Amino acid sequence: MDNSTSSEKVRADEQRRRGCEVARALPKQLLIGGRWVDARSGKTFETIEPATEQVVAAVAEGGVEDIDEAVRAARAAFDDGPWPRMRPHQRTRYLFKLAELIEAHHEELATLITLDNGKPLAEARAEVSRTAEVFVYYAGWTTKIYGETHPSEPALFNYTLREPLGVCGQIIPWNGPLSMIGWKVGPALACGNTVVLKPAEQTPLPALRFGQFVLEAGLPEGVVNIVTGFGPTAGAALARHPDVDKVAFTGSTEVGREILRASVPDLKRVSLELGGKSPNIIFADAELGPSVAGAAFGIFRNQGQICSAGSRIFVQREIYDEFARRLTQTAEGIRLGDPFQTETTMGPLISAEQYERVLGYCEAGRRDGAKVETGGERGGQSKGYFVKPTVFVDVDNSMRIAREEIFGPVASLIPFTDERDAALQGNETIYGLAAAIWTRDVSRVHRLARALKAGTVWVNCYNIIDPVSPFGGYKQSGIGRELGKDSLDLYTQVKSVFIKL
Ligand code: NAI
Ligand code: MG
Repeated sequence: MDNSTSSEKVRADEQRRRGCEVARALPKQLLIGGRWVDARSGKTFETIEPATEQVVAAVAEGGVEDIDEAVRAARAAFDDGPWPRMRPHQRTRYLFKLAELIEAHHEELATLITLDNGKPLAEARAEVSRTAEVFVYYAGWTTKIYGETHPSEPALFNYTLREPLGVCGQIIPWNGPLSMIGWKVGPALACGNTVVLKPAEQTPLPALRFGQFVLEAGLPEGVVNIVTGFGPTAGAALARHPDVDKVAFTGSTEVGREILRASVPDLKRVSLELGGKSPNIIFADAELGPSVAGAAFGIFRNQGQICSAGSRIFVQREIYDEFARRLTQTAEGIRLGDPFQTETTMGPLISAEQYERVLGYCEAGRRDGAKVETGGERGGQSKGYFVKPTVFVDVDNSMRIAREEIFGPVASLIPFTDERDAALQGNETIYGLAAAIWTRDVSRVHRLARALKAGTVWVNCYNIIDPVSPFGGYKQSGIGRELGKDSLDLYTQVKSVFIKL
């Protein structure tokens, strides 16, 4: 090891040590009704750093009773508190304040994200910036939530009010532990709702720090409640609670179905952002360099743990071998290792469970006759849940690795003949979150953008997400659209008022 890398290791370890100190100073409590309180059971659980398998900190284990109390606080804040009744301008200020606090603690939050999730620090930093932007975006909406007037009878005046839904139960995953707070809490608050947030058990730390910002920003008590805990207990209790008006969930399609089922008795509003198996379609006329880089970015960023990951890479026959060679080269250039070190470009998977799952899929791919060009095995340091960036060739769209969401750094390269074949194979999935096309043919772009059954289509780019634009799934990738103007539909309901003149 040369001097520069050993001094980089010292720096990385120092950042990790300071991060652990911050994590241990966080409340081992739940944020309910504007105060930090112990879990009723008194239980705590540990959060593990995926890069080292070391315990970072213990946090409170919220359960059914705690959810009940948090919902009660959110209910009171909605029914009797100032939040839905205040001037929208004032809500704007609170949302700006949250954005400011996130920006003001940028490096600290990035450190907590990397500790808890394992993504490289550069990606964690980008997540912090994007989350602040999402709050800024929704701060602007509070004053722009309009009703309409309708041309009814001359002797009548009819208008609509767009009103908040009430208490929103928000259950989020671990792959974007801070950004998912922005996507959920931002629009809910902008529209005048109150919130009970249940972060993923793998990544509670950024949510606890955010809870401190909620208090520092001076939000009225009970507007944002945060209950750390597990899915089948705290999550399920929130999903079925009769006093919750709406549940917003991001995670697996399997749990999404359970959440929808739990909504039936009270006909709760539900929005779901679920799995994907997104086609990334590369035509022979595309610029090779950018399309290879884009395909790598699409499947390897965040270790492939992104719902919209471009996991099925369709490559036109003429360039299939050349593309496979170039993508393999790119994958082999990825620096897998300590996510706190600057030169690292890929970190570990989130947990032992995901590690086993992803390696299991690599095994299944081999068994089904696909060929590993690179990866397909453990990598990185001796501790931690590291899987090498993996490229499979000779993949058929009917193989398990091409049908099921792997949620890891595993690319499946599938050949196609022409535009029609690309659309057909691309759509041959139960999912429909995203799709991408790489080509220089403008007409083909427009035809395929319409033909692909996906909530987002990227052209000559991948994974561009901007709060101005709606994001969500066709088919089994979900229900509803987050971000953009469309997200307001998820957090408001419309009342029609008739007045006899
Ligand atoms: P998961 O869907 O079980 O967990 C996501 C969130 O739901 C967590 O907060 C969890 O505590 C909660 N949850 C779990 N079971 C619940 C229940 N019965 N009721 C209410 N809430 C519940 O996802 P998991 O187990 O972490 O990952 C499994 C697979 O899910 C991944 O391999 C991936 O395919 C997919 N996934 C997709 C994500 C996306 O962004 N669309 C994010 C995370 C996982
Ligand atoms: Mg699960």
